[in-house]
Amino acid sequence: MAIWNSRFQKSFDKGALKFSSSIDIDGKLYNEDIEGSKAHVKMLMKQKIISTSDGNAILKALEEIRKEISNGKLNFDWQKEDIHSLIEERLVEKIGERGKRLHTARSRNDQIALDERLFLRKEINIVSKLITDFQKALLKQAQQNKSTIISGYTHLQQAQPILFAHHLIAYISMLQRDKERFNDLMKRVNLSPLGAAALAGTSLPIDRNIVAKNLGMNGIILNSLDAVADRDVLIEFINDCSIVMMHLSRFSEEMILWSSQEFSFAKIDDSFATGSSLMPQKKNPDIAELIRGKVGRVYGSLIGILTIMKSLPLAYNRDMQEDKVHLLEATTTTKDSLLMATELLNNTKFNKNRFEKELDGNLLLSTDLVDYLVRKQVPFRKAHQMVGEIVALCIQRNIKLNQLPIQEYKQFSVKFEEDVFELLTARKSIENKISQGSTSPQEVEKQILFWKKELSNSLKEKKQNIHNNKKNIK
Ligand code: ARG
Repeated sequence: MAIWNSRFQKSFDKGALKFSSSIDIDGKLYNEDIEGSKAHVKMLMKQKIISTSDGNAILKALEEIRKEISNGKLNFDWQKEDIHSLIEERLVEKIGERGKRLHTARSRNDQIALDERLFLRKEINIVSKLITDFQKALLKQAQQNKSTIISGYTHLQQAQPILFAHHLIAYISMLQRDKERFNDLMKRVNLSPLGAAALAGTSLPIDRNIVAKNLGMNGIILNSLDAVADRDVLIEFINDCSIVMMHLSRFSEEMILWSSQEFSFAKIDDSFATGSSLMPQKKNPDIAELIRGKVGRVYGSLIGILTIMKSLPLAYNRDMQEDKVHLLEATTTTKDSLLMATELLNNTKFNKNRFEKELDGNLLLSTDLVDYLVRKQVPFRKAHQMVGEIVALCIQRNIKLNQLPIQEYKQFSVKFEEDVFELLTARKSIENKISQGSTSPQEVEKQILFWKKELSNSLKEKKQNIHNNKKNIK
């Protein structure tokens, strides 16, 4: 018989129960459920709502149940409906009547809301750490590729030469914002909904703040309806995961391009590539493709949870049980993808000399010619037009910019002199950049130093600061 069954004449239909059962999903929150229950019991004891001896018996049995679950001894029977009922029924089985006091002044509505927040709190820290690991892998490659030159692109058309390190650091910056988003979310997550009871609060003399404090939370969600009805923090979390996945899929896409024969730039270690069952020569970047593909799951979860919450009247509705499907899907996929992206990058070598020669004298140095003329007082728009004509001429003759004789340059502008050819190498183009945050070796070095410091700090910070978001927020 279910824990709520006494007012019914008949027991719940088997098929309906199976349809309602969520234990396969919320069973994954058993640790959080027990942690929350223990904090609740301690408060009930302190407030003298239950006796110390009953409370202690419950606390002890809850710990035993935790072990039974982690050892696989307690079966997740779907007929038990959800993890809350399973644990409570097991408790009563173990210690009898005393176990029946656990749920005093509590509802499964505030209980699940708390479990989810405890879960999010833990996962935010894990995801942040995985992001830092990926950033470190990017930084390591950046340090190894401080002078590797590649073409930078816009519209996937060659634009200007850049240092590969510069390109990688762009990802470090993107991921840093992802981490900040999670850290900022922590201050909204780490609040306790417990004590809201079903929706209206309770007539028993509980102390909500003691529970929050005991759990290391920064306070309570005051309004009891809001406490049980809100799932905003889950939506935010899945949104933040979606942005991480979007970033990972851009990175994956580039890894896939770079490892193609046409680019021949990235060499993925054999242990992270796959072959074809038909074409013997194939070496495929499946891991990158899978990360790119798995984005669909996380975006799906975001739309899923937004759709569940849309139009729900206050307060709790059973629809909300489905939120955990999306929460767990997004969490697992994001963590797995971050881990794999890190491993993939750590197991990839880049061909440092792949592009430099090809880019010397190449049309992608046109902007350097424009800047040359601008430095000689030619108005920018005029210089742009002249260089455009030079480009057209080179295309017509199928030559590079550095193959056009100086006399011909002079026909476009008398400002052109022999020294123009010094500009026409990829490396010179990069070295000539002077603006802040540009791709010049000095600016890239500054960025590398900045991230080295930042990423070693972030680890120290995390160690002292498991869920105290206050210090975490920049
Ligand atoms: N398994 C439920 C969920 O995850 C717990 C809350 C059930 N509350 C209720 N009133 N049926 O949403």
